[in-house]
Amino acid sequence: MTDHSEIASAEGRLGVLLPGFGAVATTFVAGVEAARRGLAQPIGSLTQMNTIRLGKRTEERTPLIRELIPLAELDQLVFGAWDPIPDDGYESAVAAGALQRSHLDAMEDFLRSVKPMPAVFHKDYVRRLDGPNVKEGKSKMDLAEALREDIRRFREEEGCRRLVMIWCGSTEIFLRPGPAHETLEAFEEGLRKSDPSISPSMIYAYAAVMEGVPYANGAPNLSADFPALEEAAQEKGVPIAGKDFKTGQTLMKTILAPGLKARMLGIEGWFSTNILGNRDGAVLDDPDSFKTKEESKLGVLEHILQPDMYPELYGDLYHKVRINYYPPRGDNKEGWDNIDIVGWMGYPMQIKVDFLCRDSILAAPIVLDLALFLDLASRSGLKGIQEWLSFYFKSPHVAPGLYPEHDLFIQHKKLKNTLRWLAGEEPITHLGVEYYDYQ
Ligand SMILES: NC(=O)c1ccc[n+]([C@@H]2O[C@H](COP(=O)([O-])OP(=O)(O)OC[C@H]3O[C@@H](n4cnc5c(N)ncnc54)[C@H](O)[C@@H]3O)[C@@H](O)[C@H]2O)c1
Repeated sequence: MTDHSEIASAEGRLGVLLPGFGAVATTFVAGVEAARRGLAQPIGSLTQMNTIRLGKRTEERTPLIRELIPLAELDQLVFGAWDPIPDDGYESAVAAGALQRSHLDAMEDFLRSVKPMPAVFHKDYVRRLDGPNVKEGKSKMDLAEALREDIRRFREEEGCRRLVMIWCGSTEIFLRPGPAHETLEAFEEGLRKSDPSISPSMIYAYAAVMEGVPYANGAPNLSADFPALEEAAQEKGVPIAGKDFKTGQTLMKTILAPGLKARMLGIEGWFSTNILGNRDGAVLDDPDSFKTKEESKLGVLEHILQPDMYPELYGDLYHKVRINYYPPRGDNKEGWDNIDIVGWMGYPMQIKVDFLCRDSILAAPIVLDLALFLDLASRSGLKGIQEWLSFYFKSPHVAPGLYPEHDLFIQHKKLKNTLRWLAGEEPITHLGVEYYDYQ
C-alpha cells in the first residue's frame, strides 16, 4: 500500500505535448480553455466529474476523484503541438469543424497562441496527407534529436515542472514489429540507418521516453507497443499507455457486448459500418491506414466474448467493420450496428444501433484524463505499461503474454481500484459487501 505522502506534489505547470493538432487535439485544448473560463463543462472526463466510493457503503465517503488524489488542475496546463500543417489552434479547429464558431471565436486569441512546431512526418506512413511544416534531417536519429530539443526548449520556455505527450496524429499504415523493435540498441541503430520499419509516431514515442516524458498513443498504429520502447520506458521510469482512443462505435460495442454476455445470450453476427467526413476519415480511406484501424476494432469482441470458452454462444460469430469516407458529415459521424443475437431455444433476435456521434467530443475528455493520469502515474513512481488506463483505449497496451481486457466495466473497476490503491484505500470488490456492511 502506498499513500499520498509517496506521491510527488502536483504543483507547477504541466505541459501537454500533442503530436497531431487536428480535430481531437484542438477540441481538447479548446474544451480545457472553455472550462477554465467557465464557458462549458468538461463532460465525459472522470478526472473532473467522477466521484469514487471509499470503504463500506455505510461510511458514506464519496469524494471526487480529484479530491482523493493529487492531480494537476486545469489552470496548470499549457499546450504544445507538432503538425505538418502549419495552422494555429484557431485555424485548425475551424477547419476541423468539430466545434461551433461561436465557441471558437470566444477563445480566438488563446487558440491562435498555440502554433504547431515543425513535425517529424513522412508521406510513406500517412499517404492521404501532406504539409509544409516538416523537419529536415539526415537520419531518423537526427529527427529524434530535433524532437528532444523541442521538448527541452518547450519545458524551459513555458516553465513546466512536468510534461506528458499524447499522440493525436493521423493513423499511420499498418506495421508489425520487426528486428528494429526488439531492443533499444537495435531501435537506435535503426534510427541511425533510417530503417523504414520506424514510423514518425515511434520517433515521437522514443523522444518522449528518452526525455522522461510519459507517452500515450491515441491512434491504432504501432508506436510504443514493442519491446524496445517498453523496456526503455521501464528502465527510465516512464509511464506509457495505448492505444486508439475508445470512442464512438467501439465504445458502444464494449458497453453492449459485456451486457449480452453477462446474460449468456448468443451472438451470431455483428456488422458495424459508419460514415465520417473529417480529415481522419480521409486518411482512413487509404487501405493501409484502414487496416491498422480494422485490426484495432476487430479484436474487441473476441476478447470480451471468449468464443473458445463459449463456443455454442459465440463460436461462429461473424464480425465485420467498415469505415466509409463521406465528406458532407465532417466530424459528425454516423455509425450503424446490426447485432444478430440468439436467445432461449436458439430463437433469433436483432438489435439495431444508430449512433449519431461526434468523434472529437468523445475523444477530448479522454485526452484530458490521460494527460492527468499519466502525470499522476509518473509522480507515483509507476513506470512502463499502464494497464489500468485500458479504460480509455480500443486496443489496450498490455505486458507481453497477457491478453487485453476490453470490457468497459472491468476496465472501469480496475482504474478506480488503482486510484484507491494509490491513495492507500482498500480496493472495492463488491464481494460480501452486504455482510460486512452489517458488521
Ligand atoms: N476522434 C476519435 O474519436 C478518435 C478515436 C480513436 C482514435 N482516433 C485517432 O486520433 C487521431 C486524431 O484524430 P483526428 O480526428 O484529430 O484527426 P485529424 O486528421 O483531424 O488530425 C490529425 C492531425 O495529425 C497530423 N499529423 C499526421 N501525421 C503527423 C506527424 N507525423 N506528426 C505530427 N502531426 C501529424 C495531421 O496533419 C492532422 O492535423 C487519428 O489517428 C484518429 O484515428 C480518433
